[in-house]
Amino acid sequence: MIKGNFPVQKFEQLNTPFYYYDMELLQTTLDTIKKATENKPIHIHYAVKANANPRILKEIATRGFGADCVSGNEILAALENGFPPDKIVFAGVGKSDREIQIGLDNNIFCFNAESIPELEVLNTHAAAKGKTAKVALRINPNIDAHTHKYITTGLTENKFGISRQHLPQTLKVINASPNLRLIGIHLHIGSQITDPQTFEDLCVKINELREWFGAQGIPLPVINAGGGLGINYRHPNHIPIAGFESHFRLFEKNLPLQEGQTLHFEPGRSIVAPCGTLITRVLFVKEGLRKKFLIVDAGMTDLIRPALYQAFHHIENITSDREPEPYDVAGPICESSDVFAEQIHLNNSTRGDLIAIRSAGAYGEIMASRYNCRDLPLSHFSDRL
Ligand code: LLP
Repeated sequence: MIKGNFPVQKFEQLNTPFYYYDMELLQTTLDTIKKATENKPIHIHYAVKANANPRILKEIATRGFGADCVSGNEILAALENGFPPDKIVFAGVGKSDREIQIGLDNNIFCFNAESIPELEVLNTHAAAKGKTAKVALRINPNIDAHTHKYITTGLTENKFGISRQHLPQTLKVINASPNLRLIGIHLHIGSQITDPQTFEDLCVKINELREWFGAQGIPLPVINAGGGLGINYRHPNHIPIAGFESHFRLFEKNLPLQEGQTLHFEPGRSIVAPCGTLITRVLFVKEGLRKKFLIVDAGMTDLIRPALYQAFHHIENITSDREPEPYDVAGPICESSDVFAEQIHLNNSTRGDLIAIRSAGAYGEIMASRYNCRDLPLSHFSDRL
């Protein structure tokens, strides 16, 4: 079986489970994005929710990218790790008063507002501070992202964004709010989107919206198309970098920018998923009646994606060269959903072998929990082992 290139000798010295980040891959990914956006009116705001490990944040910030935050604490983490406030956007359906104040106090670039009551509260807080809050309206375009239903956000039935029908009323509220300044629109329709047609559909909606705002005499300097670019979970060794170039080209082709307009993206998964691997050790090889279970020391508390979204992660035994056999790979948590994969082929495994669960850099470490009073997973970096 083809395996990733891991410093196995060094791993042998470390306590498991841990996240291992390939910093060279992260750097190459960031270089790819930089090159694809150079000299273009494209702005990248990394979606901090995907991975807020300080080392990862610092690495991304040093490239001059901005941050997309969905909580006050994410804004603080972004600032602490080098993201400039004027490149921070703040989305979320439920911004608390404290969080709005964090945004205002730090003069962030823009609030991606998701409802009329939010706009009213934001205006009140901005007025109290004698500030003007810049706002992009997050619009729910009713587009099916054809991804898992838990990570679809752009359908009418989802809680996110303002629907098209409510825009006239929303504009009235903005016009009556002297401390708000409308600078653009924001649309994020879901995550792990692999069909380019979905993004073409998004462009059609954005064009329609732009025309509608134009007809009201409202310019939109900021067009924010959100995140969502999918990665290839099946082939982490062959396709380690997401299709950024074609993604940006698709938007350039389908969404010609007007004078003074900038296009903003909020990629999370596509930047950090491939560089992260969850390394875990085989505790027991357990014979079931009909199959063999590899019981490993990582569980759904370390990586919840398979349990929560039935997500696929490529798994390898990185210490065995023996003939492959079918296994169910399961963790130690007291939940039947604590299974990473069923009936996958892994090199014949024994107690103590190291197992790599790939493409886990996004929504892995950050979603870890302490359920069963477990320790949070550690993290190690390829350039500091
Ligand atoms: N912008 C907004 C407003 C978002 O809600 C998200 C993700 C992103 C950007 C980044 O999307 P990305 O480029 O990562 O697809 N925990 C789930 C994914 C949840 C995504 C939530 N929003 C998972 O593990 O698949």
